[in-house]
Formats: sequence, C-alpha cells, structure tokens
Amino acid sequence: MRAITVRVPAKVNLQLAVGPLREDGYHDLVNVFHAVSLFDEVTAAEPGDLVDPGDPRGLGGPIRVMVRGASAAEVPVDESNLAVRAAQALARSAGRSYRAELVIDKAIPVAGGMAGGSADAAAALVACNELWGLGLPVEDLMEIAADIGSDVPFALLGGTAVGTGRGERLTPLETTGTFHWVFALADGGLSTPRVYGECDRLRAAAGAGVPRPVASEPLLAALREGDAEGLGRALCNDLQPAALSLRPSLARTLEAGRELGALGAIVSGSGPTCAFLAESQAHAAGLAAALGEDGEICRSAVTASGPVPGAMPAD
Ligand code: C5P
Repeated sequence: MRAITVRVPAKVNLQLAVGPLREDGYHDLVNVFHAVSLFDEVTAAEPGDLVDPGDPRGLGGPIRVMVRGASAAEVPVDESNLAVRAAQALARSAGRSYRAELVIDKAIPVAGGMAGGSADAAAALVACNELWGLGLPVEDLMEIAADIGSDVPFALLGGTAVGTGRGERLTPLETTGTFHWVFALADGGLSTPRVYGECDRLRAAAGAGVPRPVASEPLLAALREGDAEGLGRALCNDLQPAALSLRPSLARTLEAGRELGALGAIVSGSGPTCAFLAESQAHAAGLAAALGEDGEICRSAVTASGPVPGAMPAD
C-alpha cells in the first residue's frame, strides 16, 4: 500500500498586531508565528487503502477524508475541511483529477487559535505532492497554501517567522535556543471571523483610530537572543480583548498562569487556547500540572516547545 504520512505543527502567535479592516474583509497584520511541538499527522493514500468506505465520517468523491483523535467529531469531513480543499487545489493546479484518501490524526485543538485546520491543509499539500509524484517545489506549494488560508503558508515553513499582508507573506526570523510552553485548552472553540469582528466592534466602540501594525523590536530582540524573560514580557495579541469579550472566563485562565509564575501569558491567536511561556521544560511541566489539576481553570493543559520545523514526512 502506498501511503505518505506528514507531521505538521501547531502555531502560537508571539505578536499579533491587527490593522484596520480592509475592503476585502481581511486585516493587515504583523503576525509573529512560532511553530510548537503539538502535531497533527495527515496520511494520504491511494483510494481504497485507508478510509473505510462504510465509515459514515468519510466523504465520497475524488478526495475523501477521515479524522481520528479525541476531538475528531468536531472536525468537518465535507469540502469545508481545509485538508480536502488543499488537496483539491493541488490537483487543480496540476490539471488532473487526482484521487486520494486522507486520514487526519488530530492532536492540535480544534478551533483553538493554534491553526490546526491550516496545519492539516499544509500537511495535505506535502503528502499529496508526494503521493501523486508532482514534485512541486515548496514555493509553488506556498502559493496554493496562501489561497487556502492566511495561516497555511506558515504551517509549511515552520520555525519562527513574521507574516505581513493578511499573514501569508512570510519572512523567517533568526532565533536562539528553545522556548518552553504550556497550552491551556478550553472546552469548545472560537470562530476566527467572529473574533476579528468583535475586535472591530470593540475598536469602533472605543472610537480611537487603529494604528498601522508594526513589529515589536523588544520581541524580535528577545527571540534573537534566546531571552525567555524578555519574550514573556513582549508577548502581545491585539485579538486578546475580543477573545476575552466573547469568552470572559479566559481572564481567569491567564491570571492563574501568571500567578503560577509564567514568564508571559497570552491568548493564542483568536483563542480560546491560552499560551504560557515557562523558564524551562521542568517549569513548564509543573505549570501544566498545576493548571490542569483545577477543572475550573481550563479543560486540560499540555506542554510543548518551539520552534519546530513545518510540515514534513513523518519518517
Ligand atoms: O485566511 P483565513 O481563511 O484563515 O481567515 C479566516 C477569517 O479570519 C477571515 O475570513 C477573516 O474574517 C479573518 N481574518 C482577518 N484578517 C486576516 C486573517 C484572517 O480578518 N489577516
């Protein structure tokens, strides 16, 4: 059986500076992406090999998908699944009606602000490029990725990078060492368009102008120098007030992490996952245990480290 498995990381936004709403419905960003060691796996195979044809969660048609893992039921298996859309876009770009069956092993929180859907799309591009023997260079995959979603190109690239435009134009950043993280997972997701909409609404209500987004120099310096304390102080997310407005309980989650000695505490992307920067792997493990043991603070807490590489074959 010919099957290609690709492993792909989640991301956390170290800085998410959001400009005014554009005419196309997007916002100009300065988006410092950081890939962390929470991984989904996407396996692509010739039809008939992987997805059980009797499985009601499988989709008919040339690209079929099935999702496994604790939160599999929350992931769509129709054409709104970003991995399906990515495989379809890749087949279209090659001008052929290729077929594939995709199996997604899901560990990244669903609708959690960690770009799990975008990660699966990136992994599907790499897996199907290989399965179908297309041999497209990563630059071509990047272009297809940007059409699928603003966060998909970064999931191909990995590491740490600054995204501009709507987040899809990437410049890799030099960083030193490894940063240790704790992610507090919440029950239920938050819709990204809804959080951006709430951000616009809060800003309009405040009546102040929206400045052009600019990269934070202290943040870039902390990354370059491997300075976890400096990075913790510089973390910033313009979507955080909107996420807190839609999910007020997150304020308590962030506060609990700060009280437990996190170097920085932030909502990840559009939330509701909260990210905490720790001093060391041991500190992260202790923080995760403390956050996870009180069911009122979060559903569960996991540790991860970054930066890690983007989507690549698992073996
Ligand atoms: O690009 P993607 O499809 O992932 O974006 C999802 C939604 O997030 C968009 O439809 C838009 O509402 C919002 N968004 C935005 N500005 C960005 C990126 C995303 O408003 N730069």
